[in-house]
Amino acid sequence: MTLEAIRYNRGSLSILDQLRLPHQTTYVPIKNSQDGHAAIKTMQVRGAPAIAIVAALSLAVELVQQQGTSPFPDAAGAVKFIVASLDYLKTSRPTAVNLFDAAKKLQALVERVGDRATTGEEVVDAYVAAAEQMLVDDVKDNQNIGRFGAEWLLQQAPDKVQVLTHCNTGSLATAGWGTALGIIRDLHKAGQLKHAYCTETRPYNQGSRLTAYELVYESIPATLICDNMASALMQQQPIAAVVVGADRVAANGDTANKIGTYQLAIVAKHHNVKFIVTAPSTSVDLNTASGKDIHIEQRKPNEVTTLTGAVIQSIDEEPKGDVHSQLIRVAANGIGVWNPSFDVTPAQLISAIVTEVGVVEKAEGSDVFDMKSFLTAH
Ligand code: MRU
Repeated sequence: MTLEAIRYNRGSLSILDQLRLPHQTTYVPIKNSQDGHAAIKTMQVRGAPAIAIVAALSLAVELVQQQGTSPFPDAAGAVKFIVASLDYLKTSRPTAVNLFDAAKKLQALVERVGDRATTGEEVVDAYVAAAEQMLVDDVKDNQNIGRFGAEWLLQQAPDKVQVLTHCNTGSLATAGWGTALGIIRDLHKAGQLKHAYCTETRPYNQGSRLTAYELVYESIPATLICDNMASALMQQQPIAAVVVGADRVAANGDTANKIGTYQLAIVAKHHNVKFIVTAPSTSVDLNTASGKDIHIEQRKPNEVTTLTGAVIQSIDEEPKGDVHSQLIRVAANGIGVWNPSFDVTPAQLISAIVTEVGVVEKAEGSDVFDMKSFLTAH
């Protein structure tokens, strides 16, 4: 059975609560854009593509639930409501561009339909169909990313490979399958994966809680390391590539991704290890020229000063069944905290950017990618 992070049928949406994983499997109903906003802000759902899809669908279920109650006097009323709701959803998290990209496309669509529609229903129907299509398209895009990325890597390193990944880019971070984790799945399926390593990804532990969960779920041979073990790993093991996701790729290829990505790229360069960024075109922001223009989200200090997990009695004990996670304070009281949720890896350190339409490489002698030409040509 594939891991279902987003459960959707027209008029009904629920999400797997990622704050409770891996110890508890709980689905949370999302009934409207307020619920969607809260789930994204509190990180019950996270991951750039998943955020955008849950935001779009949260409004879709709200609109479907309202149908039959004639909430809008005319098409213009429906457009106004949808645009205001999208503006509100955009305030949930700032760095991943997918949410803004989805909102922009959906807004353009309803404005176009609204210009010729006579009823609010027509606008709502167009919105719901487009939001649903985003869910379908993201899975297909992920599968193409997995295939292109695995093929590219095997051209560079034809033997069975070992890879390192960071944060969570799998079914939980997308509509399904995953981006960087999609490459790992494809390598595994093709019998070309020797071993996958995943980082813990402090402070929020997307690696140890979520990626490790997905790797175990899929029976992929994998090992968890702490973030500060990456250089030792690359020194001691033949790692073919570091594969990561992206929250926003600038026009020159500079990439904002989970905090810690930049240091992995530096370490990879030192050890001559390929550094692969995976990014559906919805993660590429051609309006942002370079990484210095990307707004980095700062999160609460308590993510750094605390840990969340199942309480156990001894270090060797495995928690059994569904257990509630508890928050444990680790850091000394009174210490100051810096908690940027993302960092920017310069294009110079990136070997290739894998999209759903193909792999982008730098022109001979160039330190940057030309994302615009690539996407325009494809
Ligand atoms: O803060 P998060 O967990 O929402 O961070 C997003 C991520 O999971 C990543 O940084 C990821 O690599 C991009 S999403 C495929």
